[in-house]
Amino acid sequence: MDTTFKPVTAQIAAEIARIVGEKYVISGEAEGLAAFSRDEVAEEQYAHMPEAVVRPGTAGEISAIMKLANREHIPVTPRGAGSGLSGGAVPLHGGIVLLCDRMNRILEIDRDNLMAVVEPGVVTNQINEALKPDGLFYAGYPMSLETCYIGGNVAENAGGGKAVKYGVTGRYVTGLEFVTPTGDIVNLGGKLVKDVTGYNLIQLLVGSEGTLGIFTRITLKLLPLPKASVDLLCLFKTAQEAISAVPSIMTKGGVIPTAIEFMDRTSVKASCDYLNESLPYQDAGAMLLITVDGGDDEQVRREYEAVGEQCLGCGATEVYVADNHTTSERIWKVRRNIAEAFKLVSPHQSLEDIVVPIAAIPLMVAAVDKIAKQYDVNIPCYGHAGDGNLHATPVMNPAWNLATWQGTLPKILHELYLATAQLGGTLSGEHGIGHKRKEYVSIFLSQPALDLMRAIKRAWDPNNVLNPGKVF
Ligand code: LAC
Ligand code: ZN
Repeated sequence: MDTTFKPVTAQIAAEIARIVGEKYVISGEAEGLAAFSRDEVAEEQYAHMPEAVVRPGTAGEISAIMKLANREHIPVTPRGAGSGLSGGAVPLHGGIVLLCDRMNRILEIDRDNLMAVVEPGVVTNQINEALKPDGLFYAGYPMSLETCYIGGNVAENAGGGKAVKYGVTGRYVTGLEFVTPTGDIVNLGGKLVKDVTGYNLIQLLVGSEGTLGIFTRITLKLLPLPKASVDLLCLFKTAQEAISAVPSIMTKGGVIPTAIEFMDRTSVKASCDYLNESLPYQDAGAMLLITVDGGDDEQVRREYEAVGEQCLGCGATEVYVADNHTTSERIWKVRRNIAEAFKLVSPHQSLEDIVVPIAAIPLMVAAVDKIAKQYDVNIPCYGHAGDGNLHATPVMNPAWNLATWQGTLPKILHELYLATAQLGGTLSGEHGIGHKRKEYVSIFLSQPALDLMRAIKRAWDPNNVLNPGKVF
């Protein structure tokens, strides 16, 4: 697809300012723009400067910007909180970054229909804070929930820490208002639990990584807030023992936990050091953090005991029970901050997001271990083991120079992806492709599948102005 674009001239910047108001445009001065050249991908080579940043306040303004972008052939890259991990919000071809931060209202909490209507720039955690007094909750729980925006969660179909029981973001999106790449404002779905009226465009937009539309209103399905919740921290001598317990927990305990998170020793230690936290048990080879929630204490007790027994049967050396919010939050904070902590360990690393069928996850961890030894690098692993989703993170061997690392990483990744494919897995479970993983997509998607995706992109975005250069 055409990726030759026109620059954002002073005249165009002035036209954008007329649409949104001058104070909501940053252009010209490089310093203010640099913050929008990257997301949370650590490696510098994935950054790219925008020429202008615009902060619209309404769907109408976004529509006007998209019409201008088509007329002038200027790329537009939507951006939420910039907490993405695949470069999705990076303006690969310059042009305009369209920030959703001003559209940050919770428009409605509809108790009668168990639905909320929100704008894309609402911080995900704020949705649950707002719902708590009504005894309701939204089941999305990305690890960046204190900073990420719901719009970005929908664009990436974020997974996170509660997907084992509750599923990923898409399950909760029942309605979308969005602006098309050519500037139309479209409404899909609504406060509907069922809807088969026409193609399921909502679920096409979910996870489309900002390439098919810009969300302006999101309708989310709500659930009753679980009345009881307990976390288990299960310690194992080795990573292989810990991960091997996961399929048993899922299939033999008769319980589907809310979360089964895996953390190897390197991951726990990095996060504890980063947070200045001292979990007394960080010397275990690996641990599982397992959440069980439900309608009452008795049910939750029965379930966590069953899960705990499974873990002990699979070789857990200790099972700690965290049944109060403070202790649970302390442990989850360590889990949520691993990715951030690793960035301090080394800026030269590659946070991966592979996913395999749950029964294959012990084999996946063994394969990662083998690749690490073969290439003489550390590949710490953590992630959403109950979903088969591993954040294996190859880190540069400190004895290497940058050129050696840059020459070796593609080989490591290629090997890692081949092993993933052999186990029936795929490239990304929750972070998306963006431009970080684009060159590897063809390992997992056949030519006809890619052709279909490209045909959809062409039909929606004939001038290729919305987030060009991403996914494929
Ligand atoms: C996590 C992010 C990296 O699971 O997805 O911590
Ligand atoms: Zn994750």
